[in-house]
Amino acid sequence: MKIAILGTVHPKGLEFLKDNEFEVFEVENFEIQSLKESLKSVVGILLRTSKLDQDILQHCDNLKIISRHGVGYDNVDLDFLNKNKIALGITSTSNAASVSEHVMSFFIYLTKNLSLSDRLVKEGNFDKRSQLPDFFELYKKKVLIIGFGRIGKEVAKRCLGFDMEVYVYDPFLDSDSIEKSKCIPIEKNEGLALADFITIHLPLNENTTNFISKSELNLMKKNTVLVNTSRGGIVNEDDLYQALKVKKIQGAGMDVYTSEPPEPNHPFFKLDNILLTPHNAALTLECRERMSLEASQNIVYFLKNMNELNKENLVNKKYL
Ligand SMILES: NC(=O)c1ccc[n+]([C@@H]2O[C@H](COP(=O)([O-])OP(=O)(O)OC[C@H]3O[C@@H](n4cnc5c(N)ncnc54)[C@H](O)[C@@H]3O)[C@@H](O)[C@H]2O)c1
Repeated sequence: MKIAILGTVHPKGLEFLKDNEFEVFEVENFEIQSLKESLKSVVGILLRTSKLDQDILQHCDNLKIISRHGVGYDNVDLDFLNKNKIALGITSTSNAASVSEHVMSFFIYLTKNLSLSDRLVKEGNFDKRSQLPDFFELYKKKVLIIGFGRIGKEVAKRCLGFDMEVYVYDPFLDSDSIEKSKCIPIEKNEGLALADFITIHLPLNENTTNFISKSELNLMKKNTVLVNTSRGGIVNEDDLYQALKVKKIQGAGMDVYTSEPPEPNHPFFKLDNILLTPHNAALTLECRERMSLEASQNIVYFLKNMNELNKENLVNKKYL
């Protein structure tokens, strides 16, 4: 049985597929016509970030499962998979530690003058340290976590470790489950207005597009740091640029963009109060290894040994 790998993954997963007697090949040509041909007879696809829409998927005559290397699946036509009883897997146990550490790195970098301090010492200006701008603690600060799923919960644990006050906006959860995690449930606008730090962990869909736009930015405090490691499009980039330009908020950290990679002259590149990373919050070595293996296990177990499969990883089990 043939499995296509779309995008480079850690070898661990490929070894697992081969050990289980699958014929594995890495797709090199991502042009649409070539994809249609190379995916024609595969039973499984291990997918990184390439877009798989109906136009391509309808040429996959034998496809049984797409296994995402990650947890977001906005690059796949889920309706098509549901209608055709093709499974969609995700790597639900792999990402949260790496992404939540990335969030804490943004928080720390954006409040501690790290790059200015580094430059000062290297330029021989140690004695001028009192001339650096004020910098701040996370201790006792209020953080708003928007979306309290796998990653939001891991961010909360780390923030509590820093003795922060943790507020959560997630209307799909009851207050008790949020309070059990030692966090405080709060309404969206109230949370935006009180938070010193805001971090977003939502799926991208029609309800979350432009979830943070001008009106939400206007509610935030002048010292607020906003971080988005979820998906581009959830924060309106034009509105964020304007807010940062006039220092309406203190700073922002972005790992994800409306269009990836962002255009070469993206307005964010002109700002000093934004820290940008290339959608790599989950790309630590450890996390890549876990994602590659878990994505491959989804394929192997779904096709050969359902008892072993982590059913939480099957996004569309009710359609299969
Ligand atoms: N930057 C990266 O490399 C990276 C890596 C992994 C995941 N992600 C992204 O992070 C996001 C979160 O992932 P996760 O695994 O925590 O997802 P998850 O599904 O476990 O959690 C999402 C949470 O958001 C809540 N939610 C949904 N719609 C909401 C709304 N309108 N308002 C408030 N809350 C809402 C849900 O109730 C759920 O608790 C996803 O978009 C995923 O694609 C990015």
